[in-house]
Amino acid sequence: MKSLPNNIIILGAQWGDEGKGKIVDLLSREFDVVARYQGGHNAGHTIRIGDRKFVLKLIPSGILHPGKRAVIGNGLVIDPAALLMETAQMEAAGVDVLGQLRISNRAHILFPWHRTMEKRISIGTTSRGIGPCYEDKAGRRGIRVCELLERDTFHAAFDVLTHEKRVIEQAFGIHDNSDYAAIRAQYDEYAERIRPMVCDTSALLNSAIARGERVLFEGAQGTMLDLDHGTYPFVTSSSATAGGAMTGTGVAPTRIGGIVGISKAYITRVGGGPFPTESLDSKGDHIRERGAEFGSVTGRPRRCGWFDVPLMKYTAMVNGFDTLVMTKLDVLDELVEIPVCVGYKGVTDMPATAAGLYQVEPIYETLPGWQSKTAGTSDYDRLPARAKEYVAFLEQATGIEVGCISTGPERTETIIRQGSRFAALTQKVG
Ligand code: GDP
Ligand code: IMO
Ligand code: MG
Repeated sequence: MKSLPNNIIILGAQWGDEGKGKIVDLLSREFDVVARYQGGHNAGHTIRIGDRKFVLKLIPSGILHPGKRAVIGNGLVIDPAALLMETAQMEAAGVDVLGQLRISNRAHILFPWHRTMEKRISIGTTSRGIGPCYEDKAGRRGIRVCELLERDTFHAAFDVLTHEKRVIEQAFGIHDNSDYAAIRAQYDEYAERIRPMVCDTSALLNSAIARGERVLFEGAQGTMLDLDHGTYPFVTSSSATAGGAMTGTGVAPTRIGGIVGISKAYITRVGGGPFPTESLDSKGDHIRERGAEFGSVTGRPRRCGWFDVPLMKYTAMVNGFDTLVMTKLDVLDELVEIPVCVGYKGVTDMPATAAGLYQVEPIYETLPGWQSKTAGTSDYDRLPARAKEYVAFLEQATGIEVGCISTGPERTETIIRQGSRFAALTQKVG
């Protein structure tokens, strides 16, 4: 079957926090359904609408548009307490959560002990229990939403799982005084609260697509945090890359018309691991301050650095980006000059090991800054010439068009370049 230009995947091209939430929210008006495909409440997607700020962790960013359906796919791990807290926040903001949100019956359930088990992991995780929950999934002992909803099945699986946990905790000397009976009763209660939103979301998405509706697949984290293709072991435990959108929702690759990468005009990273272009001096501090680069989930200061062309070429290759959105151009407004990494000395392929990436020596070209305001601009022609040159330089160096530029957190602070592949992919067809 021919691919359908109607459906697109949007995902992060670096280490997360590229501004996916803002762009997905912006584009949601052109789509009928927005589906998350991996991760959990380790994600923090910030959306600003006027003086209101929403940080979505599990719920797809399309939910803020009345009437749009939002899907939590099978590839996610769901902490029901976190989910219900978020649904309550959305309801308080006037969102019709019961009407709009659907949760996969095949998504995995995260339990409190997953957070306890995470104490074994020391790579600067978000401490939400994400890795251990995916470990249970891969170990084929996880409990999914569909099991949670069948009380007898759930109780039997829960009791087996908690017995195993006790054995592991003893082996690792982890002291956890959890009251398992109370947790089970609590999850029975959660089951009833989420039940009305649960369905086979693969069937839902495929039916919507068959009717000609448009689906936007929303990535969490970023390519370099992908379990297979990222900077292992300094990664998250899910498939954040474009391929994950298919396994994480039960929709076939033949249904996808395009893939959009979201990149900052520079780079940030939260947590441990190699970061070749990290700027540890005052320029890095300037970016952190101006860009408000503090984690939306944990509040940790984000590590800041320069745009990395080899890294972008690698993530474009892995995902097959058709076009890029460049966010936070405005954060660079005051800089006198802007270094861009155009290569790694003597290295052609992205090193597979963390040690290999720690050792690379970036080759920089320094571009002149524009030292004038791009913040808030929505018209490409009004960008300062040097800002245009910066974007053109990155397009030329990476070989990928920048079809959209973001100049602020608001929906309106966005430039969509007419005639671009981005415009073609995101405009309503017909
Ligand atoms: P996500 O995880 O990829 O959705 O990104 P986050 O929401 O964690 O982090 C991006 C932050 O940058 C959020 O606070 C956004 O409101 C903000 N943001 C997004 N685009 C822009 C932009 O173009 N300029 C500025 N200054 N802020 C932006
Ligand atoms: P969004 O969707 C940035 C990072 C953590 C840590 C590593 C593993 O907002 O872009 P985990 O808790 O997932 O096991 O942590 O991944 N990390 C993120 N960094 N943005 C995110 O999500 C992230 N989700 C996880 O900081 O280094
Ligand atoms: Mg984020």
